[in-house]
Amino acid sequence: MEPEDDIVSKVKKYWISQKWKPLLVRAGLADLKSVASREFDWFEEPNKRRGGRSGVCRIVLNPDSPAKDQRAVFLKIQKNYSYRAPNKLFRRQLTFLREFEATRQAADILPYTPEILLFGSWKSGPDAGAVLITKELSTWTSFSDLMQGIKGLVPPDKSTLLKILEAIAETSRRLNNAGWVHMGFSAKHIFVRLGPESSFEICVVDFEKCRKHFRPGYRTLKDCSHFMRHTPRLSDEHKRHYLKSYFQTRSFSPAQKRLIKKMPGAPAI
Ligand SMILES: Nc1ncnc2c1ncn2[C@@H]1O[C@H](COP(=O)(O)OP(=O)(O)O)[C@@H](O)[C@H]1O
Ligand SMILES: [Mg+2]
Repeated sequence: MEPEDDIVSKVKKYWISQKWKPLLVRAGLADLKSVASREFDWFEEPNKRRGGRSGVCRIVLNPDSPAKDQRAVFLKIQKNYSYRAPNKLFRRQLTFLREFEATRQAADILPYTPEILLFGSWKSGPDAGAVLITKELSTWTSFSDLMQGIKGLVPPDKSTLLKILEAIAETSRRLNNAGWVHMGFSAKHIFVRLGPESSFEICVVDFEKCRKHFRPGYRTLKDCSHFMRHTPRLSDEHKRHYLKSYFQTRSFSPAQKRLIKKMPGAPAI
């Protein structure tokens, strides 16, 4: 954000994890005025939409500590980055408010979700701003990085990949079965780690577009299609394995086949 954006005229909502508060205070991240006026090194180029913008950065809270004790967070900050919320009479609502609420509700459905350390939203004259801080998933690997074999990672062999796909499909099915559609369910938002007995654990990030939807077919179509279109290096065989795991079946029913045929990015079945 630029210096002129720094005035927080009215705090709308403020939530901080009590456990993390001392470290956030020391890092100067607990106070919305100083967060709103700070310059950040972006982790990804900020997204821009209809005059608003939204950026993400990685911050080490205690850079002076030895490397093994350092704690990093991901901080997302936005200005006038909103959507029209059907459940709020289509009034404009910041997407981070939706992300804050959806991430917390997803924690009741999924075994692992990002830990939220702080959420704040404010008015700055006519502008609306928000910040969301989550703990870095330091014990996890980005599925996107893994599939591309970047950052020193070696892509999984076939049998390992099939097991990871099963774990991802189960995560998606759980979220969809509970009435939610993630709307960005792709490799860069999926983190993987080894669990007990050679199982794989999954943690999903970026609940900014996540919402409830009343049609089960819509939920399945959107998230399965997004996964197949935006995950690097997935073959048709991998996709079929993913869909069979998602539907928990060995062969697709006629209704499942009809739904799969509507999914952009789906394999031949
Ligand atoms: N808690 C986290 N731990 C590790 N990486 C994260 C975390 N939060 C975000 N990221 C990384 O930052 C990227 C951007 O964050 P994301 O929530 O997707 O923001 P945006 O809404 O701008 O897409 C993600 O794709 C992921 O690689
Ligand atoms: Mg994202």
